[in-house]
Amino acid sequence: MKKAWITPDIRTKAQQLLARLSLEQKAGQMTQYDWGFNPINPDTGLSQRDVISEQIAQGHVGSVFNLAGAEEANRLQKLALGEDGEGVPLLIGRDVIHGYRTVFPIPLAQASAWNPALAGATAAAASREALADGVAWVFAPMIDVSRDPRWGRIAESIGEDPYLASAYAEAWVRGSQIDGDGKGNDDGDGGDGSGDGVGADTAVASCPKHYAGYGLAEAGRDYNTVDLSDRVLREVILPPFRQAVEAGALTIMASFNEVNGVPACANRYLLTTILREEWGFEGVVASDYNALQELITHGVAADEEEACLLALRAGTDVDMASGIYIRHLPRLVREGKVPESLVDEAVLRILAVKLKLGLLERPFVAPSDYATDERLPAEHIALARQAARESIVLLRNEGGVLPLSKSARAIAVIGPLADSRKDPLGCWAFDGRPDDVVSVLEGVRQAADQEAVVSYAKGCEVDSDSASGESDLAEALEAAGKADVVVLALGETFEMSGEARCRTNLDLPGGQRRLVEAVSKLGKPIVAVLLTGRPLAIPWLQEYADAIVQAWHLGVQSGHGIADVLFGDYNPGGRLTATFPLNVGQVPIYYYRKKTGRPPGGVYTSYYLDSSTDPLYPFGFGLSYTSFRYGEILCAKPRVALGEAFELSAQVTNTGDREGEEVVQCYVRDEAASVTQPLKKLVGFRKIRLKAGESEVVTFVLGEESLAIIDADMNATVESGDFTVWIGPSSAEGESVRLTVEAPAQ
Ligand code: NOJ
Repeated sequence: MKKAWITPDIRTKAQQLLARLSLEQKAGQMTQYDWGFNPINPDTGLSQRDVISEQIAQGHVGSVFNLAGAEEANRLQKLALGEDGEGVPLLIGRDVIHGYRTVFPIPLAQASAWNPALAGATAAAASREALADGVAWVFAPMIDVSRDPRWGRIAESIGEDPYLASAYAEAWVRGSQIDGDGKGNDDGDGGDGSGDGVGADTAVASCPKHYAGYGLAEAGRDYNTVDLSDRVLREVILPPFRQAVEAGALTIMASFNEVNGVPACANRYLLTTILREEWGFEGVVASDYNALQELITHGVAADEEEACLLALRAGTDVDMASGIYIRHLPRLVREGKVPESLVDEAVLRILAVKLKLGLLERPFVAPSDYATDERLPAEHIALARQAARESIVLLRNEGGVLPLSKSARAIAVIGPLADSRKDPLGCWAFDGRPDDVVSVLEGVRQAADQEAVVSYAKGCEVDSDSASGESDLAEALEAAGKADVVVLALGETFEMSGEARCRTNLDLPGGQRRLVEAVSKLGKPIVAVLLTGRPLAIPWLQEYADAIVQAWHLGVQSGHGIADVLFGDYNPGGRLTATFPLNVGQVPIYYYRKKTGRPPGGVYTSYYLDSSTDPLYPFGFGLSYTSFRYGEILCAKPRVALGEAFELSAQVTNTGDREGEEVVQCYVRDEAASVTQPLKKLVGFRKIRLKAGESEVVTFVLGEESLAIIDADMNATVESGDFTVWIGPSSAEGESVRLTVEAPAQ
């Protein structure tokens, strides 16, 4: 456990620094500005940057974000250090969500790989590139459990499951907090550039977000209110954050939303009672953008002064963007409305992070190849391709239409996303360049045999009717008519998911359905490739498409990753981490649901008059070009005493004729507990690779962590009684066994 990282040495140095600061400079350390937001003040004629620069020079700013590159970073650091070089360097932040220059798949896609270590590697690569531009604080990972595909930020999430999100939280934090000597590379100083949580040489801080409950916005509308019970908070929402803290996250971002009536950055229960007192978090809590100001909009603070006091007392150390701390804190301390010691505690934490990151010794960066080269680093391109292909989920493959034969004579690649280089970058890819992206069309062209004719037609726009609508469609039909197989690249633009990008309609937007229907009339085999930032509700597509490939927004190597799967150079092993609903009316729909008290069947059961309650595709689901058979679950000791663990195993065999990957999933249900339990919850998984005919015995050990419930007093505890455990290929399938934890003898 690395969460305790403030060593006596760091503490002493932070105290010495603190002692040099005026009250204004202390409030300055707690102030972060958005350098990218630069309006001109009509009264003074000064730009926002002019004003911030002046404040930086006085030591009244501790952090900035949204800078453009190393040169600007160094210039501002020089300003912060001052003429005498005695000032405190800035902590430069950035939303490095799924890559920097090298854009990797969106987090929801990376989650579908069920490969946290791979996500850790992409996070480390992103941090190396960002650090070369002076960024020492990445606002990632986003580990909000998300159960609503209408919510645009589901794209940035790990999906709906707390256990999987916890595994990714740990890997992502450790990955992004790279070692480094300011260059982010291994130069033999002991840092290996790979990231290992809080190492001796940590150079980048991660910022898990949004703490807490932001993913549960009512009706899937971003920033909407959240009604969150303490039970859901502790069972579902907090585990990934706790894991991130255990992994050594140096900072954390409080969410915009309220929790139990109190917006997160004013919520002492969240920021102090749980985070610091229960979990021992030593790092820095930052607010989300302008969230201190929003305490007034929320209606919990009458004015800026009250907002300032609420946030400080709750435990918010850094005020992102509002400027409220610097405007009010010094005066409030002088007036005796808040003790200076509270300010000192917050500033001490901020200075400790800066010391930990080595900013005092290395405030400047030497621009490296990452930032200046026209080409992306080869090792990052390779990683991006690996991440892209592992993120893809095969949802349907009727009649074995996939993999495509490379010698197919004519392949038509059709659709509004087929030739797009911008959309595959996905949301939050400020530093990515469309020129670096391999489109679906290009990927297919490069992978197909030289003799094959790969034709292209757009077919329609993603989300609008264009003047050329009819001729676009005619062109598509002509291309499809001449082809042996049609690849339809459909989905959403990069702007349709991410922050403030919510939808009430989860169908393919615009005229895409019309395109599918028209092409299908030609009777050619159809492979639908879906480039989206969220699960869609598209049951109708199954009637038209022989194969459906969920390809998300996969970043710079999108086209290669997709072509690898389409032609079978890579056998898809991705599995969904967010349920695909049958229709919008089912939302929120997620596997981790509770029983109702109602008996099944009859009229007065929990069902819809006009829809099944089953999803289109369940959590954990995904196909392969091979098949796997699960053997019986073996458990040598199906009855254990309280405090003991079960050891279970099942043999998994590749029964097909090609090598493939399987994600073996283990779920548990406590049959009768003191408080109601989900029907199933994920407690383990293994991604295995098996050659044709090969078998592997996969073992899970279920101890306290897997069997515990949160009881009525909110304590994690294992209760005696029966448990059902499944080992299988998705949340909807699998063999099960009944096990018993025996009650202690009276
Ligand atoms: C608001 C978003 O909620 C947060 O995720 C992001 O880090 C900040 N803006 C800064 O861009």
